[in-house]
Order: sequence, then C-alpha cells, then structure tokens
Amino acid sequence: MDMWDSVVEAIPIPGILVDQNGRILESNAAARQLFSDQINDRHYIAALRQPSILDALEQALASGETTSAQFLAADERGDVTFEATCTPVGDTGHVLACFEDRTAMEEAGQMRRDFVANVSHELRTPLTALLGFIETLRGTARDDTTVRERFLGIMEREASRMNRLVGDLLSLSRLEAEERLRPTDPVQLPAVVRSAVHALGPLAAEHEVHVTTSGLDGDFTVLGDADQLAQVATNLVENAIKYSGPGTNVDVSVQSTDAHPMIQGDAALLVVSDTGAGIDMFHVPRLTERFYRVDSHRSREMGGTGLGLAIVKHIVNRHRGRLRIESETGKGSRFLVVLPRGEARERHENSDELS
Ligand SMILES: Nc1ncnc2c1ncn2[C@@H]1O[C@H](COP(=O)(O)OP(=O)(O)OP(=O)(O)O)[C@@H](O)[C@H]1O
Ligand SMILES: [Mg+2]
Repeated sequence: MDMWDSVVEAIPIPGILVDQNGRILESNAAARQLFSDQINDRHYIAALRQPSILDALEQALASGETTSAQFLAADERGDVTFEATCTPVGDTGHVLACFEDRTAMEEAGQMRRDFVANVSHELRTPLTALLGFIETLRGTARDDTTVRERFLGIMEREASRMNRLVGDLLSLSRLEAEERLRPTDPVQLPAVVRSAVHALGPLAAEHEVHVTTSGLDGDFTVLGDADQLAQVATNLVENAIKYSGPGTNVDVSVQSTDAHPMIQGDAALLVVSDTGAGIDMFHVPRLTERFYRVDSHRSREMGGTGLGLAIVKHIVNRHRGRLRIESETGKGSRFLVVLPRGEARERHENSDELS
C-alpha cells in the first residue's frame, strides 16, 4: 500500500485511487483539499457525491474501461470546472480518478465566443443601416437629391464607424502579438502628449470642454513606441472630452519622477483628469475589457465601440507600465499612466491577456 500512496501523491493534480468495492484507498493532498481531509477509507459515493463523477467511477469499476466526466467545484476564485478521468489500473481491479482543472480553457472558450458575438453585433448594426439606406436610395428616394445627400452622409458615418472598429481590432491583435516585446526607442513623452492634445482641440471646442495642461513642454524620454504612446494620450483625452459634457474641465499633465512605487523605478506619469460625471465604482475594474461601455447607448452615439481603454491597457502593459483609474460619481475621473522611464528591470508580467 505504501507504493500506491507514493504514486498517488506524486500525481500533480487531484487524484484518488478506488478499490473494486468502491472504497477510496488513497488520495493525494490536492484531492483531499478538493473534497475533504477525511476521504480515505470511505466509499466514493459518500465522499464525492456529484452524480456525473459517480456514474463515471461506477462504469469504470464495472467495465474495466476508462471513463470521464465533468466535475464542478468552487474555491476562492469562484467556480472551477474539472475534467475527471477514471482509469482502471492494470488488473488490480482498482480505478484511478484524476481531476484536471479545465477552468482556464473553459473561460478562454467563453471569452472567444463572447468576443465573436460582440464583434458581429458591432458590425451588424452599421451594416444593417447601410443596407437599409441602399435599398431606399434604389427605391423611393431615387430621384430626390436632398434626401440622397442626407442618406449618403449617414452612410458615410456608418461606414467610417465600421472602418474604425476594424482598425481598432487590428491594432489590438497587433498589440497582443507584440506585447512581450518591450519597445526600445527613446521617446519624448511630453512632446508626444502635446501633439495628441493639440489634435483634439477641435473636439474639445465642439464639446465645449476646457482643456488645461501642465508639463507638456518638459524634456525627458521614456523607452517606448511613439505612435502607441500618442494613442494612449489620444484615447484618454478623447474619452475625457467626450464623456464629461459641456462646461467641464479636462486636465492633462505629464511629469517625470524618481523611484515611483507603482513600478519600482524612475517613472514618467501621464495624468488625464476631468470634472465630468465620473464613473460608478462598479464599472471601474471592467473599463479596460474589450467592448465594455458604461452607457452603451450614449457611447455608441458618440461613435464609441468600447475598445479605446482596452487598447490603452495593452499599450501600457507592453511598455511595462501601470494604468490606474480613479473615479467618483459626480466629481469626475482620473486616469493615471505610469511608465518606466529607462532601463527598467524586466519583470514577469501577469497581464490579463484578453481584457
Ligand atoms: N473620462 C471618462 N468619464 C466618464 N466615463 C468614461 C471616461 N472614460 C471612459 N469612460 C467610460 O468607459 C467606457 C469605455 O471607454 P473606451 O474608451 O474603452 O470605449 P469608448 O470610448 O466607448 O469607445 P472607443 O474608445 O472605442 O471609441 C466608455 O464607454 C465610457 O462609458
Ligand atoms: Mg474611448
């Protein structure tokens, strides 16, 4: 029995060994953590309880063939899905049940399905509009030049919306592909932010938002990708302008500091804050998920697809930086980007891959 004990203990995932009478002979520490400390010597029916796994074990014991089943459990992370495989052990009459954690795969599959559904949905809306207008232009509006002009205007807007969406998706997938490659060019961050803010002047005017800046005439570099850093500034400032409403203030500041605690090294900070409506705490952790919008109707009206902050997050990750979002409803929001300024130590990133 000692040998069985060591063999079962050596299995790197939860494993239990059941004899031909259904008694649990051995279990490893991982299995005892999953079920209970006292499963040894008990009958598997009493110890495991879930019908799917009971059936699989029963069948393996009776037929001498390998069976498998899904096993659901919960731990501090939430629901966990296991794939249990029950394998008869030679001609001992014993069956070894091993539990492989499939949660990550299940989640990845779910994410992929959600992603495809989201993309299809976002593309379908403008496409349906385009098809509708084309039909109208062919039919009733055929000879009406004013209507035609108006419809063409809408069609152009819808088509550019699709164009933007596809562009954003492409840059996200490009970013994902190169996320492990840290950019190496010295980039003048203040100048990059300055030109991004400058380019958004007309948008600010249109939304009657007052933009103030500080530190944009600074002179220091970060190791980065200039286009991507410009994208970060653009997306953050554009959001602040779009979602804050007329009469509010947006402040953009850039500075360089030594030994910043968030990245444990010399850092460059970009802070975009606004005096807009703010974001409910509930939404804040999810803002960097693809397609996540607080008020999807309002955002969509402004041409938004909910990819802007996902792109920001990926770029910041690629630069080995940190993004922090602070917001209070009624008071406004503050988006802080901390970038390592120079030759930072390489750290192992546990970036949340698909957010
Ligand atoms: N400064 C802000 N104030 C209030 N809400 C904001 C602010 N920035 C972002 N949000 C909210 O976060 C959501 C996600 O922003 P994100 O930039 O990712 O997408 P979007 O602006 O809707 O679309 P896109 O940027 O792709 O055009 C927005 O829809 C908006 O609801
Ligand atoms: Mg945006």
